[in-house]
Parts: sequence; C-alpha cells; structure tokens
Amino acid sequence: MEESRTIEKVVNLAKRRGFIFPSSEIYGGLSAAYDYGPLGVELKNNIKRTWWKMFVSERLDMVGLDAAIIMHPKTWEASGHLDNFSDPLVECKKCHRRFRYDHLLEDKTIVPQHDKTKPIDPKDIVCPECGGELTDVKQFNMMFKTFMGPVEDSASIVYLRPETAGGIFVNFKNVLDTQRLRLPFGIAQIGKAFRNEITTENFIFRTREFEQMEVEYFIEPKGWEKHFDSWLGVMRDWCKFLGLKKEDLVEVEISEKDRAFYSKRTIDFEYKFPFGQKELYGLAYRTDYDLTQHQKASGQDLAYTDPVTREKFLPHVIEPSLGVDRSFLAVLLSAYTEIDGGRSTTTKAIKDVEVVLKLPYQLAPIKVAVLPLSKKEELSKVSQDILLKLKKNFVCVYDETASIGKRYRRQDEIGTPYCVTVDFDSLEDKKVTVRDRDTMEQERIAIDELAAYFQEKLNY
Ligand code: GAP
Repeated sequence: MEESRTIEKVVNLAKRRGFIFPSSEIYGGLSAAYDYGPLGVELKNNIKRTWWKMFVSERLDMVGLDAAIIMHPKTWEASGHLDNFSDPLVECKKCHRRFRYDHLLEDKTIVPQHDKTKPIDPKDIVCPECGGELTDVKQFNMMFKTFMGPVEDSASIVYLRPETAGGIFVNFKNVLDTQRLRLPFGIAQIGKAFRNEITTENFIFRTREFEQMEVEYFIEPKGWEKHFDSWLGVMRDWCKFLGLKKEDLVEVEISEKDRAFYSKRTIDFEYKFPFGQKELYGLAYRTDYDLTQHQKASGQDLAYTDPVTREKFLPHVIEPSLGVDRSFLAVLLSAYTEIDGGRSTTTKAIKDVEVVLKLPYQLAPIKVAVLPLSKKEELSKVSQDILLKLKKNFVCVYDETASIGKRYRRQDEIGTPYCVTVDFDSLEDKKVTVRDRDTMEQERIAIDELAAYFQEKLNY
C-alpha cells in the first residue's frame, strides 16, 4: 500500500464528500457506528448489486435468500455460537479499558525488538493506553442479545444474527423442496450481521453492525476440492473487478491448528490496509457440520436424496464469505490516487496535490456530471434537459458553481467517470464536450447520441 493512501486521507474524503458519516454525529457520535451518505449508499449498492450479479444471477447453480435478522435462538445453540463465539478479553486494572488479548499479542509480535522465536511472556503485555497491569484473560461472547415481546425474561431472549450464514442453513430444506434443485447448488444472501466486538477499530474495518455477502454452496463430499478451487477463482475475479491491486492482496492458507475444528480447508484473503495486513474475506470448506448440527437440534430430516442413485446424505458446504464494508474500504483505498502538482496546466487552483478516485466505472456513485459553462439561462435550460434524459439510465449530478477546472476536480475526487460540458457552441451545433476522468481526453458528442455513448462506455 502506497504511503499516500493513509487512512486519515480516505476518512477525510469520505466525510467531506458524503460517502460516510459518523453515526448520530449531532449527539457526539456512537463508537464505531457509521452512516453511509448519498455517495456512500450508491457505491455500497453498486458493490452489492455487482456481487449479486457475479455470484448469483449470472450463474445457473445459484439462488438467493433474504432471511430474518432475528432468528429462533436455537439456531445459535445448534451452530455453536452461544457457546463458542467469543474473543479473549483483558481489562486494564488501572484505566479499565478493555482489549482483545490476541490483538495485543499481534501488536507485540510486530514490535521490531521482539524476538519472534521466543514465546511471549504474558507479563510483558501491559495496557497499551496507560501501561497498567492487565487482568487474566476471560472469554467474551460476541452475540448481541435482546428481548422479543413485552416480557423481559430468559424465555424471551433472542439474538441479532452474528452472520448471514445461519439463515441459509435453516432454510436449506425449504429451498430444496421449492426450487427443484440438484447438487451442486448454492444459496446466497446479503444482509446485516451484528457482533458485540470487544474493540472496534480502523474506521469501517471492524464495527459492531456490518453487512455480509455470503454463499453456502452445497456439494457431495467427493470431489470437494474442485468446487473449492472454482470458488477461489470467483473470489480472485471479484477482487480484480473491485480494482484491488495484486500486490495489496495476500491469500493465506489457514493451518489446521488455526482452522475451525470442522473445516477441512480455509483460505483467508488478506488486504494490505494502511493499518496492517488484515482479513478481507474468507473461503472455507465447512464439511457437513452446519446441516448436521441443525438436523440434530431441530429433529428435522435435512438430508438430500440423489435423484439417480437414491442415495440419501447430508450435503457438504463450501462457503465464500465476504464483508460489504471491508470491500467498500478496500475499494476506496485502492482507488484513491494523489497526483502531485495536479494534472491540468491551465488552472492555478489545480497546481497543488490533486485527488482522483479511480473507481471501476460500475462502482462509481455518480456516472455523469453535467456542467454548463455559464449560469446563463439558455445554457441552464439545455443542460437541465440533458440531465433529465441521462438520469433515466445513469446516476447524474448537475453543477454550475465555480470554475470549470474546480468542477472537474470535484468530480475527479468522487470518481465520476465522465463530465459533460455544455457551452455556447452547444446551442448552435447541438454538441457537448465529454471529458474522461482518467485520460482527461475531451470529445465532442452530439446531444442526441449521449445516452447511447454512455451506454457503451459505461458497459450497461
Ligand atoms: N459465515 C462465516 C463468517 O461469518 P467471518 O470470517 O467471521 O466468517 C466473514 O466473517 C466476513 O465478514 C469477514 O471476512 C469480513 O469481511 C466481515 N466481517 C466480520 N466481522 C466484521 C466486523 N466486525 N466488521 C466488519 N466486517 C466484518
């Protein structure tokens, strides 16, 4: 990751241009909770829409689902979340701040003077804030608890789902019975998940409320390797589509001792964020663990019968699991480009550092900006007509304030692929100037042909 792409610069741009705001900001904000603003919601929707296209609707073997966030509590008993979904917690005896012990260990091992061949003495780990002594490690369950209905007793406890996968497993039989599917096939879901993380950090990287895009791909156990490899390929293609640079991505094969006990193979896709190399996505072969657990706990028969051999068995599962918010952050960081001294030679205002958000066109929140060269009514009228026509197919903005150079710059900073400039010649020749974000090349295009031009350029 290049030095210039600091997290501060991206957070600043995200706030200043309306991608992401701190949640409930007028009340001082809420720790690690964020709201996606007008540009953020467009970019986020574009990420989800393209994922759905690539992972679901373009394929013959995938269907979708949208399950409830609050599910029967037995779901989480069966999946093991109520017993095991915990992180190691330590508290500072002096300042009472709480930390994830494994994160403190990770930080310790990256201190240059630490000899990594020597085991860490827990006594060496002190509070990173005040140097105080830490308590013993306790396991802290991350499930968000609440009550269903008017009575707040133990019988009414429910949980906000910690992952979208649970909704897919409990609906496996429903989908199978209603969709006439044959193995191998997958069920996909995009939705919110909630984890009461001990520590939240690094902007939208780790929050307590976030969104996931998950696939549970049901297979026969024999030959699982080829399905695993195939999804690995899809995930690589997805990262490429997002514009993530190869050198910023690392595929980490998780060793047996670090894998969940039921997983036969897990690969984490890690990204070199400015704050360290961290998990972006995961791909796991989960065997038949989930369906076995839900079959046992529910007493329902969740087996699949092969229509040819009549063999009855519980399908195994390959799970590509992706975070929407982490995708968003990696996309912003990858697209963020600073050009020292600016690209334009004509406008003084463009001489300092210029920022271009080189987003893939399909992800850009605004596709076209319509910019009349003057505020005079005759130009505004033509420009508004163009805007209304283009708006039928593309997300567009209109901007008539400041110099044209400044307006181009504003659009570059939010990643708008094309600007349309309407000038006085447009009134005569019925043409406008289209400027390309990346090359800055300008072309004269007939107003009547604009929609078709962008259709082609933006690959709609
Ligand atoms: N069903 C498997 C599962 O949930 P996970 O590795 O715990 O696996 C999958 O989560 C993905 O969800 C992660 O790779 C990450 O992209 C995202 N994710 C997990 N916890 C998150 C958090 N606290 N904040 C933002 N994204 C998170």
